[in-house]
Amino acid sequence: MSETNVAIPDYSKNVTVIDHPMVQHKLTLLRDTTTGSKLFRDLIKELAIFLGYEATRHFQLEQVTVKTPICETTAYALKGRKVAIVPILRAGLGMVSGMLELIPVARVGHVGLYRDPDTHLPVEYYCKLPDDIMTRDVLIVDPMLATGGSASAAIELLREKGVPSDRIRLLVIIAAPEGIQAVVDADPQVNIYTCAIDECLNEHAYIVPGLGDAGDRIFGTK
Ligand code: PRP
Ligand code: URA
Repeated sequence: MSETNVAIPDYSKNVTVIDHPMVQHKLTLLRDTTTGSKLFRDLIKELAIFLGYEATRHFQLEQVTVKTPICETTAYALKGRKVAIVPILRAGLGMVSGMLELIPVARVGHVGLYRDPDTHLPVEYYCKLPDDIMTRDVLIVDPMLATGGSASAAIELLREKGVPSDRIRLLVIIAAPEGIQAVVDADPQVNIYTCAIDECLNEHAYIVPGLGDAGDRIFGTK
């Protein structure tokens, strides 16, 4: 097969990359190894808001009447389903405050998963979701989509609780092609929002170029 015949995966149906200049600038600061924990946390929060804007673009509006100081007029308000934000612990916690600024009435569920350092497979250690999770639009948040194991496990967990795939959205700051492929293979209906699709994974399943270990940089644990 000649090089031009090599199939390059087309993720465009499932993946939205936020190429806004402000997002790309903040992402560069986030990647920088000299960026300390305080700025790192602030940037994660700000990027979560940008991702949240895109991931809620499909929300429906209804007409309402509002009285301004000048007169009564017809305007628009959000209609319909309720929202749950589900951070994957621990690094996903860094995105919650930004998401709550955007959607203050959202409920927050928590899924605890860590990657086994040898197998790189996710290990579940905690799960607490709103009782009515199956009736909500769910926005899973986690800065990193590497092998896709953690995100796929979180999606599977939500589906087991009755959340339909087309109501689940995955918001990540950096995605590896391998992770996108794994999530899309596991559930072709899930939509992914990211600020960048990086090159690949290294031998430790870290994203290249990436930003290192998101949890450690948020919480200053290394
Ligand atoms: C990181 C990250 C994701 C996961 C991504 O968490 O926050 O949850 O790795 O990797 P994957 O796509 O290969 O599953 P980690 O397991 O390091 O835990 P932490 O958030 O507690 O640091
Ligand atoms: N988890 C991280 O925090 N960073 C990576 O690059 C991969 C997994």
